Amino acid sequence: MLSKVTVSARSLGPSIDRRIFGHFLENMGRSIYAGGLLDKNGRPRAEIIDKIKALHVPSLRWPGGLFADGYHWTNGIGEHRPKKRNLYWGQFGSWLGPTDLNQFGTDEFLQLCEHLGAEPYVNINFANGTPQEAADWVAYCNDRPSGISGRLRAANGHDAAYNVRVWGIGNEQYGFWAFGHTTAERYARRYLEFHHAMSEADPGITPVAVGATEMWPNWNPTVLHILQEKLRYLSMHVYLPGTNVPYLLMRLPNNAKTHYALSAAGYEMSRQIHAAADQITAEYGRETHVRLAVDEWNLWWWWLQAYKVWWTMRDAVAVGGMLGALVENCQHVAMANIAQLINVLGVIRTSPTAVVATPLYHVLEMFASTLSGFRLETREEGPKYSTSKLGGIPAVTDAPMTPVYASLDGDEVGMIVVQRCYEHGMVIELEAPRVRVESVRILSGPSPEARNDFEHPDRVRVQDVETTGEIGGVTLDMPPVSIAAVKGRVVKD
Ligand code: AHR
Repeated sequence: MLSKVTVSARSLGPSIDRRIFGHFLENMGRSIYAGGLLDKNGRPRAEIIDKIKALHVPSLRWPGGLFADGYHWTNGIGEHRPKKRNLYWGQFGSWLGPTDLNQFGTDEFLQLCEHLGAEPYVNINFANGTPQEAADWVAYCNDRPSGISGRLRAANGHDAAYNVRVWGIGNEQYGFWAFGHTTAERYARRYLEFHHAMSEADPGITPVAVGATEMWPNWNPTVLHILQEKLRYLSMHVYLPGTNVPYLLMRLPNNAKTHYALSAAGYEMSRQIHAAADQITAEYGRETHVRLAVDEWNLWWWWLQAYKVWWTMRDAVAVGGMLGALVENCQHVAMANIAQLINVLGVIRTSPTAVVATPLYHVLEMFASTLSGFRLETREEGPKYSTSKLGGIPAVTDAPMTPVYASLDGDEVGMIVVQRCYEHGMVIELEAPRVRVESVRILSGPSPEARNDFEHPDRVRVQDVETTGEIGGVTLDMPPVSIAAVKGRVVKD
């Protein structure tokens, strides 16, 4: 079957903040301890670090999530690292809330970010922390080397200020499940106290306030109304088809109907982004510089994926649509962090001795290494498809079977094509006038249900396709349920 997609390097859209391809690390399950990032001596495992490095991580959020509300940062610096109960996740057992050995603290996190070239995003403890504690944390990270906090940091081995800009103030406080759960008004008033103290330590910080989904319709308007110029980013969390029972309890069946329904996740994400952006505009007007931080998002079906992941090629295509939604809404979204990086819903799966890139890893890598600069307008003239509702993902009609997302950075053009057809492969005529195609990579597996495990780490993999430097486009022969990343360069007239 044939599909034609067109990318015009002349139709420049808004700029894409590369932080929309960010990640998230939380002390939950086997993410950091218990066979995750750290070895048994408490040191980062080189093979995991190498895998993360190859992901092109632009932003990394830590220490939570729900774990952040209960975390005291002073336990994680210097020589003395007390073992602490994992206050939040420990409620559900040590498998989900392993003891916090405090081996991975502020310096370890920020030095990991330096190594990765990722912008750090630190979430403070809003629930049982204090504004002063958060301000001291900002000072520890950002104070000049000769200041009181800077000297403490230097004594711990890092003279230069880390200059952490992005600070999250709270996490999901609208929810009854969160520590520090409260009303929107009380949240906003307490946010101002944190903001005041933290800005005294460094006036240049970029604060992120807790935003809620439409299930709490009054939360965002109230918070936006109270915070005014003290707000820079409003957060939102998107898990699809949803963390509601039955989707939490079940594994999704492997069939065409489920695949197509799941592949519409990006449209729902887009709808939620628009709804939140409209709330921001309603309070602050169109010229506002307040933007969204989608600081947790992913698919979530089956609760056990919080411990061990089963992501398939089908899931990778659905996540490709969600990344596409972030790109298409880049005028509203400043940053986004897929939840999470290692094991917990993770794009990387580990055992105490092995590391595997899941299909989701490859999609994130492809988007992050292909798209940057300004979004380009695209057009699809191919088959369309319709779906049925799946949990929190509504049915869609007439959606393109092969959406394309594109960008222009200097003279470099990046293009991603998501091929959703389940029944058969597609031939895609990718037209890109005045562009010389330089590289083509295709992610696919032997079937939509294929996944990578320790025995078969490369069942789903990215393969280079030979190109002849064609000008004006390329014909892609894409297997069922696959993704292509194409790079090119604008040729001079
Ligand atoms: O990503 C896992 C958890 O899901 C986070 O800690 C929490 O913020 C969300 O509900």
